[in-house]
Amino acid sequence: MNSIDYWYAMVVEERSFEKNILEAMKREIPCMVSAILERSCNLSCSHCLYTESLSSKGFSESADITDVIVNMLTQVERPFFLHEGRILRKWHMDVFSLIRQKLPEANIGLIDNGTYLRLLGAFREQKIRLNWLDISLDGAETAHNLQRGNQKAYSVAITGLESARLVSDKVTSLMTLTSINYADISATVDMLFSRALVDEFHVTTMTPYLPSNFSIEITEEEFRVAWRQLVNVFQKYPDKIFFKIYRHQDLMKIAKAVGYEKFWKAFTRESDSPEGPAVGVGDGFVEIVIDNVAVRYFPASIVLTETFLIDADGAYRTGGAQQYTLQELRRGVSNQGDAINQYTFTPLTPTSKFAQVYEDSVNYWWKYWGANFLSQEKEAFQIIAKG
Ligand SMILES: C[S@@+](CC[C@H](N)C(=O)[O-])C[C@H]1O[C@@H](n2cnc3c(N)ncnc32)[C@H](O)[C@@H]1O
Ligand code: SF4
Repeated sequence: MNSIDYWYAMVVEERSFEKNILEAMKREIPCMVSAILERSCNLSCSHCLYTESLSSKGFSESADITDVIVNMLTQVERPFFLHEGRILRKWHMDVFSLIRQKLPEANIGLIDNGTYLRLLGAFREQKIRLNWLDISLDGAETAHNLQRGNQKAYSVAITGLESARLVSDKVTSLMTLTSINYADISATVDMLFSRALVDEFHVTTMTPYLPSNFSIEITEEEFRVAWRQLVNVFQKYPDKIFFKIYRHQDLMKIAKAVGYEKFWKAFTRESDSPEGPAVGVGDGFVEIVIDNVAVRYFPASIVLTETFLIDADGAYRTGGAQQYTLQELRRGVSNQGDAINQYTFTPLTPTSKFAQVYEDSVNYWWKYWGANFLSQEKEAFQIIAKG
């Protein structure tokens, strides 16, 4: 059994499988290595989890980050490298090149806001082809530009999508739901598929980390509108829409939108819905099908199995560390004086041993994050179960 199976049994049956979850997580070494290769950005989006930052290139150079990444990728089965931001720079092409050279079988992905196009020449010169390119699109033009605080952001994203197949095999778009764009799902999806700009459309909810995020967290009322649009797009484009949830707080919003009883029935396989099995268990997520919408819920308690995140200074960190600067993280104390050591597992070197680093980090994660998340998740599901 995998950690998600134990997690599911624990939440539904209210039995204690904590030890099993921890042991299973250690066995589930992630194949995806993701890296933050630049901590500055050309935009400052209101939903962004990153704090403002100067370029981190110097930190990356000192840490030999290219070799750190390649070393980690050589130690996983089915290596997959994800460049997850904040923005693509020319020297990152050398990272892609070295991965292609040392690990021809590796998949390479990039999440971008459309500015990758400035480097189209470098893609050509260095003969870089991506396996997957995701261009973020946060709604129709008005909402996207408002959320991204820039009047040209939408046209840059669309131009990026129009040329995406020049540099990548698979092309997707990710929309991060907020109170700015919650009513834009249908229009965005229709536009993307009618123009054949993407192969898949992904939707997730914003996780609020920074004060600038708090005021635009989607409300329960807004979520009901978003849900109706999700029902519509899942019906129109089956198999092409992916709705991912990482926070139990947002799962609660779904439960409130559809009703606790209906949610719990779907979650516990009791549904007599003609849509077929209501819940399935995948790699690190449960898929709950309600009103034909497949909700992929990745419980925060076991999220470490999803990807191995290398920060711009070559340290292995947990998601959420982006809300702090590298200076704060390396000091272990935030600018507000809070202890933030728990975000950093360990600095990495070009000879770090993946399995050992990962196992130690799972223990550390469980102590500072995982166990706490798990009890919050159990509590949320108990509320839903009681109706
Ligand atoms: C951090 S960005 C980096 C890549 C690039 N700058 C972009 O915007 O696509 C990666 C993805 O995370 C999303 N994102 C940013 N802040 C988020 C938050 N607080 N919660 C959830 N997703 C977020 C972005 O919208 C984007 O789709
Ligand atoms: S969401 Fe992407 S483009 Fe916007 S500020 Fe964050 S990293 Fe930059």
